[in-house]
Amino acid sequence: MIRPLTRNDREAVLRLLAGTGMFTEAEIAVAEEQLDIFLTQPAQKDYDIVVVADEAGGVAGFLSWGPTPLTEGTYDLYWMAVAPNRQGRGYGKALVRWLEDRARAANGRLIVIETSSQPKYHPTRAFYLGLGYNEAARIPDFYKPGDARVIYTKELVQE
Ligand SMILES: CC(C)(COP(=O)(O)OP(=O)(O)OC[C@H]1O[C@@H](n2cnc3c(N)ncnc32)[C@H](O)[C@@H]1OP(=O)(O)O)[C@@H](O)C(=O)NCCC(=O)NCCS
Repeated sequence: MIRPLTRNDREAVLRLLAGTGMFTEAEIAVAEEQLDIFLTQPAQKDYDIVVVADEAGGVAGFLSWGPTPLTEGTYDLYWMAVAPNRQGRGYGKALVRWLEDRARAANGRLIVIETSSQPKYHPTRAFYLGLGYNEAARIPDFYKPGDARVIYTKELVQE
């Protein structure tokens, strides 16, 4: 159900990112750049991008993550989104659990996720809190005046 992103998924991922209504054009452009680095530079090790397929094989959601540069065992969850008509069915949780398993298997210690304090991200923050992430820091006025960067972390326990 969770597999690496392929070229055929590119448009579906961009469509679902836009479809969430959560991201600006500039943000989508940055995400697109990351998709293209992943798709065209197979030797790069900065990003890994996976999609979760629905019952019909369509792209229900995606997640990008990678080792945080200059750290030992810390991983960043960079982007994730689930198509609006697929939200609330466990796809997002499956993606995050998958990332945690992969990071743990690579001797990962810590997952870091950054998001915005805007009210529209309240459901997203509730999602991360529900998955056991804790708010580690908040940088006021980071994205713009009144819009803080909220940093969530989770320590991985080796099983
Ligand atoms: C945030 C997002 C990825 C969650 O994915 P999802 O597939 O809808 O979430 P799931 O169905 O896997 O939910 C997992 C758990 O989180 C909880 N959850 C999900 N949305 C929630 C919400 N709005 N409020 C409270 N809890 C929520 C669910 O109840 C569920 O808990 P349970 O396992 O106890 O039942 C998705 O809603 C999304 O794409 N949002 C828009 C884009 C976005 O914000 N991306 C992150 C940018 S940093």
